Order: sequence, then C-alpha cells, then structure tokens
Amino acid sequence: MTDTKGEELSALLHENRRFPPPPEFAAAAIAQPGIYEHAAEGRTAFWEEQARRLTWAEPWHTALEWEMPYAKWFVGGKLNVAYNCVDRHVESGLGDRVAYHWEGEPGDTRTITYRDLQEMVCKAANALTELGVEAGTKVAIYMPMIPETVAAMLACARLGAPHTVVFGGFSAEALRDRILDCDARLVITSDGGYRRGSPSALKPAVDDAVASCPNVTKVLVVRRTGQDVAWSEGRDVWWHEVVDRQSEHHEAQMFDAEHPLYIMYTSGTTAKPKGILHTSGGYLTHTSATHRLVFDLNPDKDIFWTAADIGWVTGHSYIVYGPLANATTSVMYEGTPDTPTRDRWWQIVERYKVNILYTAPTTIRTFMKWGEDLPAAHDLSSLRLLGSVGEPINPEAWIWYRTHIGGDRCPIVDTWWQTETGGIMISPLPGITTTKPGAAMKPLPGVTADVVSNDGTSVGNGEGGLLVIKDPWPGMLRGIWGDDQRFKDTYWSRFPGIYFAGDGAKRDDDGDLWLLGRVDDVMNVSGHRISTTEVEHALVGHPSVAEAAVVGASDATTGQAIVAFVTVKSGADNPEGSDQLVIDLREHVAREIGPIAKPRQILLTPELPKTRSGKIMRRLLRDVAEQRELGDVTTLLDATVVNAIRDRMVPGAEEREQG
Ligand code: WTA
Repeated sequence: MTDTKGEELSALLHENRRFPPPPEFAAAAIAQPGIYEHAAEGRTAFWEEQARRLTWAEPWHTALEWEMPYAKWFVGGKLNVAYNCVDRHVESGLGDRVAYHWEGEPGDTRTITYRDLQEMVCKAANALTELGVEAGTKVAIYMPMIPETVAAMLACARLGAPHTVVFGGFSAEALRDRILDCDARLVITSDGGYRRGSPSALKPAVDDAVASCPNVTKVLVVRRTGQDVAWSEGRDVWWHEVVDRQSEHHEAQMFDAEHPLYIMYTSGTTAKPKGILHTSGGYLTHTSATHRLVFDLNPDKDIFWTAADIGWVTGHSYIVYGPLANATTSVMYEGTPDTPTRDRWWQIVERYKVNILYTAPTTIRTFMKWGEDLPAAHDLSSLRLLGSVGEPINPEAWIWYRTHIGGDRCPIVDTWWQTETGGIMISPLPGITTTKPGAAMKPLPGVTADVVSNDGTSVGNGEGGLLVIKDPWPGMLRGIWGDDQRFKDTYWSRFPGIYFAGDGAKRDDDGDLWLLGRVDDVMNVSGHRISTTEVEHALVGHPSVAEAAVVGASDATTGQAIVAFVTVKSGADNPEGSDQLVIDLREHVAREIGPIAKPRQILLTPELPKTRSGKIMRRLLRDVAEQRELGDVTTLLDATVVNAIRDRMVPGAEEREQG
C-alpha cells in the first residue's frame, strides 16, 4: 500500500470535524501539555518515572537492556504484581475502597473492596500452593466474568505462576491446544456462567480438553450457576471447599521485573494461535501509566468501566492490571448487553454513576442499530470520558458515541494497541488533544510509532503506509511462547530492527495518525490498493446501513474483488426493497470513493459473524465470498450466521464491471 500517495485513502479524510477538549476538562487533566516534550527528552527516563509509581522491593539497576528483538525492562528490579494491585492499597488505608462493583447477568450484585480482594487473592494463593502450584507453573483459567476470575489471575501473579486465560467462548479443542502449548498443569474454571438469560456451561469443555492433557492433575471449579457437572474424583476440586478454608494471610514473594506474568493466545496468519508472552515490571508500568494518562484516571473519584471480557488482552490490561495498580473502582458485568433488555448497559452506567466507559466500535454500532432512544431513557450524565478499542472506529459511530452516549460533552479516546503491545500505544490524551472522529491521532509520550513505505522510509503527511514501532516500550511482548523463530519472522523481519504491527495507517496533512485495519485486509483490485476499512466507512456512511464488513475475494479478472456484507438499520427507509438498496449502495460507494471501490457484490444480511470479542470474522467472510469450505469456526459467536450468509450467495450471479 506504500505506492499509494494516498489518493484511495483520502476519502477517509473527508472528515474535518474537530473536537478540542472542554476547557474545564483540560484544566484539571492529569496529562498536561508539555508531557510529549518531557518524554521526548528521555524516553527511557519517562518510563522510569512511571515505573516509580509502583512499589518495588528492590530498585532496578538498568532501565532498559535492548538486544533487538529482546527487551528487558527494569533489570535487577524486584516486585510482586499482585502486591502492587491489591495489598499496597490496603496498607495505605484504602481497604474499604471498592475495587469492583460486580453485576451478574441475572441481576445479582457483589461489592468487592480492596480488603475483600486481598482476602480472596491470599486464600486462592494458599489453595493453589496446596494444589502444587509453584513459581513457574503454568495455570489455565477458563472462566466467566466473575470476581473469582480476577482473584485467580492475581493469585497466579502472586505466586509467580504464569496464567493463560482462555476466553470462555472458545471450544474444548481450542482450550486443549492452549493448555498443551504452554504445558499448563492446573485449570481453574466454573460450572458455567450466565449468557443471554441462561446458564452456559464451561466445565464440560474443560472435561473434554483435559481428557487429552495428561499433565493436568487438578481442576479447580468455582460454583457459579449451580448446574450439574460431571466430577472426576481426585482431579476436580471445588473452589468453595479448597479456597474458603485457607488462611487469609499470604506472604507475597518478590520476583524479577522480567518474571513471566502471562501468556495470551491470539490468532495470527496461520491456523496455530500465537502465545504472546508478557512479563511483570514493564507490563505493569505500561498498563498502569497508560490507564492513568489516557483515561485521566482519578482513583479517588472515578468509576471506571471497561466493557470487555477478561479473556482478552483489553480485559487483562484495563479491567485487571492497570486499574488495580492505580487503586481504581471499576465496574464489571458478567453478561450480554441485551439481557434482559437492550438498555442493560445504560442501566449499569446510571446505577453505578460510571464516569469513564471503554468499549469497542462494533458494540457502538450495535447500539446505533438498536436506536438512540435506549440510552436517551437513562441518566448518563455521570460520564465524562469515552474510549474505543479493537478496530478502526468509523466517523459515524464516533459521532453517535459522542452525541448519544457522551451527551456532546465527553472527549473520546480512540486507542490503538494490540495483544502484543500489552497496553495502549496510540491515542489522544483527553485533556490535550483536539480529536478528529476516526483518528487515533498520536503515539503516546514514550512511544515512537511511524508510518513507513515498503522500503522502510517514513511517509510524508497525506500518505499511507505500514505502522511500525521504532523503539522498545515497557509493555511489549517478550516473545511467542515456544516459537522464537515465529516471533522474529512475524514482527522483526519485515523491517529489520523495528516492530512491524501488521496494520496499515495514514498520516494526514497535520501528521495525525489514522489506523486503516490489518494490512492483510488491504485489497488489490485491478492493481489499485483499497482498504477494506475505507469501503466499510463509505457503506456505514449511508443512512440505511448499520454495519458493514468488506473482504477482498480472489477474482480471476481483477485479482481481488470487493464483496460487502451489510446489515441494515432497523426501520431504515427502504421503500423499494433490497434490490434497489443494493444498487443505491454501490452508487453510494462509487460516489464516496470512486467507481473502482464499487463492491462487486453486496449481501444484505441480518447479522455479521463475529468472534466472541466482537471482531468481525473477515477470514470467514472471505471464505463465504469465495465459496470455499468454511475454516475453523470455534471462535464464532454464532456459526449459523455464516451459513445463513452463505446460503444467500448465488454463484455466478455477481456483476463484473470492474477492471
Ligand atoms: C486493531 C486489541 C484501529 C488493529 C487491543 C490491531 C485497532 C488489532 C484499534 C489488535 C484502533 C485495535 N483503531 N485498529 N483503535 N485497536 N485495533 O490483539 O488491527 O485483539 O492490530 O488487541 O486490532 O487486536 P488485539
């Protein structure tokens, strides 16, 4: 995409609305102008300042050792991550502060103070020790969104036992592969959790998975739903029987800053997921500092809500580690946003007076589809800042979020980062940055991101290219578990010595950054490079469209052809029926971007296939568009959606007007 001088991408930048921070927000913000210059004077020193906000048992002697691609941060330093997240707050008198306002999907609630959390973590750490867990033992966690999940992660961290949290929506096979890949010895799970109004079992998948994991000797089971579970005597133990009877005292050991904290599996370009390794001191520094600066977090006042699942990196960094290290009061919600009604989130915001909400564009677009009357019926005036993560946010969704959730007063931070980066890398700072709807704007202080062309040279303003990170940062991945070659090949070989993120980006005329999606989602149609995101932006800009996913399907004539999957807003004005709408949409895209970007096919569909974390499964859509057999669907929210879409494809009925 580097030979584009930005013509194709310039359509994205039709957007020229600007939102400066409200003056009162700017005046009181934690991050003040000058922070960029300050960090630029000494990037490593800047991160050292952030690290000093944590409690270290021994100070580091070297802030950064960098032997590309291996970074070590805060070498010689010792700390305990769980102590930093919990105990030190209790010791400084914050024991009664709420760590989590937890709400189960059926409506049950729990208030967990820092003192409660300390007791839970210490008991769990004692129980894990009794079950044979030591520093270095890997522990798999396969849980719903309940407080015990946080306690389990922190108990592992406390013992120096790296955890791998496997999202509860993954299949037994996916769980087994991850357990085997990192050689986990113990699994923590529950009978089930609540989703969409009913108990959804987890234990059967663990039973299936562990049947082919001979090294797993114990399965620790939390009772959440009370549903029947199969029981393997000697292997399975109830949490309430083993954890509850433990002492609430546990002496935390201190570990090296580079001691492994967790392994998080994420998909790459091959079928085998990558085990992304994060370590302790740098990761906690990065997540806590970015949590504080990007979300302007005032722990004495703010109620913070990351509405994501703990099974993903967003949950690790911004439900658990970052917020707890900052002594934050968070909201944690177990279930889906439409149970029992589609205003569940707005009830929660109103009930807990949430000040800061962090979620994904796909969710925002779902709320758009459901209509603005739902949030309008609730008092959302407590909100003061909104965040977005996980995919490029289209200007329409951004403006909707600002208007209907943020009451036109809350700054929005569009935060770009990855499982691999550990924490936020590119984002506005809410008291400083004048935001542009759809732009992630600037690398954070201490981060050196760049946009380069294929030969690795920086592109100028107004040009597109590939996103890279030029210098090491504290939250960076320390490797791919068990596959050092893949680590080097994936991230460090495209441009030797600098980190290749796999995302396309554009630098606008002011030098601000717009993320364009994965570069593997960039299509090449008749030699023209077109971003799937760009076409999606155009489609979603049409008044009838709720959501759109665009893929490049291989085409004998044009190389790739654009196929769009579109969901229509409920009640959208479409008197002439769907045929007319498809024609209109193709014309609309042609108008917005140019005839070259006209989709070959547009399929109207009631839903888009998404992973449980809400990402649209473009790879599957590509298979559907190319009418191949479907690949792995274990991460799908609802596999029937794909079948429904596929059934709608009429082979040979496509128009071919391109080229
Ligand atoms: C995409 C989620 C545009 C990007 C934290 C990245 C984004 C991938 C943004 C990582 C954003 C994440 N704007 N794209 N604000 N945030 N992405 O590992 O393609 O689940 O490479 O981490 O999501 O996804 P992951």
